[in-house]
Amino acid sequence: MRTQVAIVGSGPAGLLLGQLLTEAGIENVILDRVGKEYILGRVRAGVLEEGTVGLMDQAKSGARMHAEGLPHDGFSLAFDGRDHRIDLFGLTGGKRVMVYGQTELTHDLMDHREKSGALTIYDAADVQPHEFDGQLPYVTYDKGGITHRIDCDFIAGCDGFHGASRKAVPERSIRTFEKVYPFGWLGILADVAPVSHELIYANHPRGFALCSMRSQTRSRYYIQCPFDEKIEDWSDDRFWDELRRRLPAHHAEKMITAPPFEKSIAPLRSFVAEPMRFGRLFLVGDAAHIVPPTGAKGLNLAASDVHYLFSGLIEHYQDRSNNGIDAYSDRALSRVWKAVRFSWWMTMMMHRFPDTSDFDQKIQEAELDYLTHSRAAATALAENYVGLPY
Ligand code: FAD
Ligand code: DHB
Repeated sequence: MRTQVAIVGSGPAGLLLGQLLTEAGIENVILDRVGKEYILGRVRAGVLEEGTVGLMDQAKSGARMHAEGLPHDGFSLAFDGRDHRIDLFGLTGGKRVMVYGQTELTHDLMDHREKSGALTIYDAADVQPHEFDGQLPYVTYDKGGITHRIDCDFIAGCDGFHGASRKAVPERSIRTFEKVYPFGWLGILADVAPVSHELIYANHPRGFALCSMRSQTRSRYYIQCPFDEKIEDWSDDRFWDELRRRLPAHHAEKMITAPPFEKSIAPLRSFVAEPMRFGRLFLVGDAAHIVPPTGAKGLNLAASDVHYLFSGLIEHYQDRSNNGIDAYSDRALSRVWKAVRFSWWMTMMMHRFPDTSDFDQKIQEAELDYLTHSRAAATALAENYVGLPY
């Protein structure tokens, strides 16, 4: 088989890139190591920047997101038993975010892809990129006991942190940067009305908590927990009790509980691989970088990478210029590092660390106090939260 762009990974990055390319008349094939139902069963991010919303529209896949997504103009930073509202809309000259689950976004992109007739190969085992240093790259994969080959012009490695694309790059050609945090997030999804109409990011002596949502009737709640915690040790009651303890009393009293239908623990890490382009192979999204979820940047960074790569590919195919492709890694990394910095900063400010000294604790309190009393400081938070420009 031959195509123009072989896309490894059918997560948000691969699907968004695929849909933009298809709309622009550029042939592409997506390969994923697992099946559609498995991908749609993964509960992950929930907050979209305006840039991500714009890309969904550009990919002609934004209709349901606009109908069912919840635009949010602000959120609460809760500490010392009180809410401190960050007015995103007022501080950024009218920008807001959209609360819409990654699962829904993935669903919409998959539906649209199926309607457009573009090919996705699910359950493709041992996907491998080859010869991306030369002019004739190709991808191989195993399915039905047979090894298949797809020849292409370019390979987009959108296969997440544990994917095959980054691993295919020789060690001497890539540099990685990493920071692992000494805790995880225990998250649940439950069909109850959200405790507040806006998100609450809570800093509490017992640890961080986040109250988010997927709709007016579905809540997504997280609490900081030790990274080696076992999910079996968290009964539903223990989770709800712990969450309530970390929130200001007026929220805790209003919290509606129900048995959650999803419960999982995610580790927190910052990771960046440089560069993001190796000849005709591009790393996109989590394949190149990971951020801790505080600040909701992971999915949005995958989308901004797609924006830069898509515009480079358009220049290549439509204008016969490789300038955009050549600039991809530098352009993407410049935005990536700023989001890595922001996610690290929010993580440091909102969590309790096992080895915090009295000095560190006082600095964290001063940071929160400054942020909630200085318009300049709050503006810096808001402009990063809604997303830096592309
Ligand atoms: P992915 O979504 O990881 O997609 C990669 C795809 O590649 C997958 O479909 C996978 O099956 C496929 N794949 C992997 N290996 C191979 C292979 N060898 N061959 C072929 N296909 C392969 N972000 C937030 O902003 N907020 C959150 O609350 C949040 N929670 C998260 C919870 C978890 C458990 C994880 C893992 C991530 C979370 N994130 C969150 C991050 C966010 O979900 C990611 O940044 C986003 O999914 C990145 O999209 P992607 O398309 O780059 O990668
Ligand atoms: C969600 C996750 C985040 O990491 C975040 O900062 C906000 C919301 C969510 O899953 O809804």
